[in-house]
Amino acid sequence: MALEGKLVRWLLLFLGDWRVLLTLFTATVILYFMMRKPYRLPPGPMRLPIIGNLHQTYYYSPLYKYCHDLVYTYGPVIRLDLGTVPCVIINRMDQAIEALVTKQNDFAGRPKNWTSEVITEGFKDIAMAPFTPVWQLQRKLAHSAFRHFASKDVLVQKIHESFNDISQMFDKIHEPFNPKSYVYNCVYNIIYAMTYGRSFHLDDPEFLRMVAIANEANALISSGFAPDFISALRYLPRTAAQKRLLDLNAEYTRRGRKEYQRHKDTFTRSDIRDLCDYLILAHQNMPTEDSDKITETHIVETLLDIFGAGTDTTSMTLLWCIKFMVAYPEIQKIGQDEIDNIVGHERLVNFHDKQNLPYCDAILHEVMRLRLPASLALPHSTTVDTTVGGYDVPKDTMVMINLYGLHHDPAYWTDPEKFDPTRFLDEHGSIRPKIKFS
Ligand SMILES: *[C@@H]1O[C@H](CO)[C@@H](O)[C@H](O)[C@H]1NC(C)=O
Repeated sequence: MALEGKLVRWLLLFLGDWRVLLTLFTATVILYFMMRKPYRLPPGPMRLPIIGNLHQTYYYSPLYKYCHDLVYTYGPVIRLDLGTVPCVIINRMDQAIEALVTKQNDFAGRPKNWTSEVITEGFKDIAMAPFTPVWQLQRKLAHSAFRHFASKDVLVQKIHESFNDISQMFDKIHEPFNPKSYVYNCVYNIIYAMTYGRSFHLDDPEFLRMVAIANEANALISSGFAPDFISALRYLPRTAAQKRLLDLNAEYTRRGRKEYQRHKDTFTRSDIRDLCDYLILAHQNMPTEDSDKITETHIVETLLDIFGAGTDTTSMTLLWCIKFMVAYPEIQKIGQDEIDNIVGHERLVNFHDKQNLPYCDAILHEVMRLRLPASLALPHSTTVDTTVGGYDVPKDTMVMINLYGLHHDPAYWTDPEKFDPTRFLDEHGSIRPKIKFS
């Protein structure tokens, strides 16, 4: 009894001493960190609190070039913090294949941020929305509409019509000129005709407005908004630039809605006119438990995605094709001879000719290798704790694929800066088999 009392008193004294408490506390913390499985995150340049690596990415822009250069210091997979957002950037082919092919479901998410949320009416589109069952349904719907549409020759017909218009305009010009607005007009008309069955003349104010909205919104988005870097800032009053983006986006969405409504009002199952009609049809043909989950907003946003993804990228790629052909007339001649021999002068080229025009196909491949409209593509995010290139990547990390880095990967391309379409051809002059990304 006496001994027990002594022991308790001694223990109380012992634990009451702050030095003992501090030692116990420190030992616990150390043990906790030693026993926890440590994440081995990819390496990267030093980060500062709150702004992360923004001081470097701002100074060494463009980001894709900066990341490509960092590979020589840190290896193919690097980490940069865009403000408080940790981001893993994959800069080489092998690691990109690991993430996008071998572990595609692990990397199938999309990061959520202020910009992507406001321009998609709360992630109701396909391109930026996270990987969810509703998203999978929506993608299935869009696939089926596209499949039906592509199986008809309507698309080729629209392309030929639009191309004829533009080549007639070209014929009337007899001095040097900038083809930019013509190419944009041609591409918009093809995409507008295929989605909504309409097209525009080059100086139609409606068309000019559409291009102006897209250009201004793209410029605003690419310079980035503070809440995307530090999400708590979304609760501050909106800046003038944020308000402007919301206005532009509202106008853009309104147009999409108007076209959708026009189609819905005049829809008949026996006369499917364009992609919008196909989407309405595919939606009606879904089992009710599925179609209930897809709202009209989902369909409008799916259609808007086609414009967001298809107009600027295609126009820029075509403009680069023109520029490369001007810069490399000897390569242009080989391509032209191939078309003259295979297709002749009596008709225009179509999709079925592609397999018989390997050199032209290789030219397109090479232009798209060297000049990308979006060098970092759309960011992914991880759906689970996973790994890439031997590093850990925790769930919900933003992951960017540096296409510029991939396309200049010295392990895959000899002399990567050189414009040389033959790198895509084998010894028989056929296109080499490709790596398939999903
Ligand atoms: C926000 O999301 C958009 C679309 O996913 C992306 O393009 C942009 O880079 C993101 N911004 C930041 C800072 O993460």
